[in-house]
Amino acid sequence: RSDFSLTGRGAAKVVVLGGSIAGLTCAYELGKAGYDCTVLEASDRVGGRTITLRAGDRLDELGGETQTAAFEEGTYFNAGAGRIAQWMVTLDYCRELGVPIETFVNNNASAYVYTRGMAAPVRARTARADLYGYVAELLAKASDTRALDRRLTAEDRERLAEFLRRFGDLGPDLTYRGSTRRGFETYPGVGEGVPLGAPPSLRAVLAAGTGRAVTIDFGYDQAMPMFQPVGGMDAIAGALADAVGRDRIRTGTRVTGIKNLPDGVEVTHQGGTLRADYCIATLPPHLLARLPHNLGAQVTAALRTPVPVAAGKIGLEYRRRWWETDDRIYGGVTETDLDITHIWYPSHGYHSRTGLVVGYYNTAENAELYGRLSHRDRRTRALTQGKKIHGEKYRTELRSSVSIAWQRRPHIEGGWVTWPSHEGGFALLQRPAGRVYFAGDWLTHLVAWQAGAMESARRAVTELHRRVLQAT
Ligand code: PHE
Repeated sequence: RSDFSLTGRGAAKVVVLGGSIAGLTCAYELGKAGYDCTVLEASDRVGGRTITLRAGDRLDELGGETQTAAFEEGTYFNAGAGRIAQWMVTLDYCRELGVPIETFVNNNASAYVYTRGMAAPVRARTARADLYGYVAELLAKASDTRALDRRLTAEDRERLAEFLRRFGDLGPDLTYRGSTRRGFETYPGVGEGVPLGAPPSLRAVLAAGTGRAVTIDFGYDQAMPMFQPVGGMDAIAGALADAVGRDRIRTGTRVTGIKNLPDGVEVTHQGGTLRADYCIATLPPHLLARLPHNLGAQVTAALRTPVPVAAGKIGLEYRRRWWETDDRIYGGVTETDLDITHIWYPSHGYHSRTGLVVGYYNTAENAELYGRLSHRDRRTRALTQGKKIHGEKYRTELRSSVSIAWQRRPHIEGGWVTWPSHEGGFALLQRPAGRVYFAGDWLTHLVAWQAGAMESARRAVTELHRRVLQAT
């Protein structure tokens, strides 16, 4: 960073396409170094997929309806980006920009697990206790009968047994018979409590298929603690935009063409033409590929390589926080194998009167299915599914709702992308095409994370700056 300034050179002009996290980070970093940046943003708000909907906010979809959030004052819905891992550069920007953060509960033993084979949902702690318990028992017994002696010495065996007893809460005979880890009918207090009792059979536990649900948070990008900005994820986009300077950001300005010139770039947009020394294009690749440009057929082919993936969410605002009062769930995620996939409970506003639950967060086919429906039908479907877990109150206590199908969002048209391969196009677009650079989460191995957008932006501006230093 120390050398990241123009040290007396005339300010190079950079036009940034897209007021997303990638675009704003580019303009923010270049601005710090003294560059003269202009950000062109097609929609009427900054942030890209970092959006937070509040009372009165409108949301339109391609070929669809416009919804208006009818939330109460104070309710918000992070309709896109929702959680941040500790190691992500996103937190460094929060610190630098003074965006306060709080814990995002990504994993809650009290939340439910529900798969279609189950008569009723079980708490995550119960599903986990039973799976760990039986797996530990099987392994401990296999080892005990010397079935693993090709891998284990006598000492290994002892150490493994010691671990497995803890891991599964096994009896001295290495059998899993259930454990207080499963939870209680009545929790201990003055009395010793009433534990849930014996687990279902090993066969039943395996048949329930809860393995995916109880391992999601093992991932390096999903492990607790995770974080969110206080008051809504859009605080990050807002703080970046303020730091860039709102006067440098032109919203409602759709780009219509990019032209590389020998000594600069020419960007055409709805309102006219803009000349600059350099351009950083941060639009989704499938939209960039459709823009008229003179960057060559290889660039177009590369931009067409990543495949857009659908993603959707619905925000369900409730009159009362029944998940806290009735279910004793304070934040976290219920995992299901239904088409809603997840239910998120809010990690803020505990014990306030109302609150908003994310009734589905799904991707690919499930998101396409919901995306084809009207908002009304999405809501009906989401309520029908959620009722299987939470019962009638899931419908009757609803106050208002808003849903988003990212593949139908104007100027974005996707939840994120997947690269069939990182050979070829991925590498090509890391380099500038003439004076045009590319940036976005789609150009990283952190697709669908704000951190990916930021890392990519930092790479692009570092390279651009190196070139500017060499050129003069
Ligand atoms: N970042 C998104 C999320 O947290 C999408 C994502 C999920 C990306 C899992 C990678 C892995 O849900």
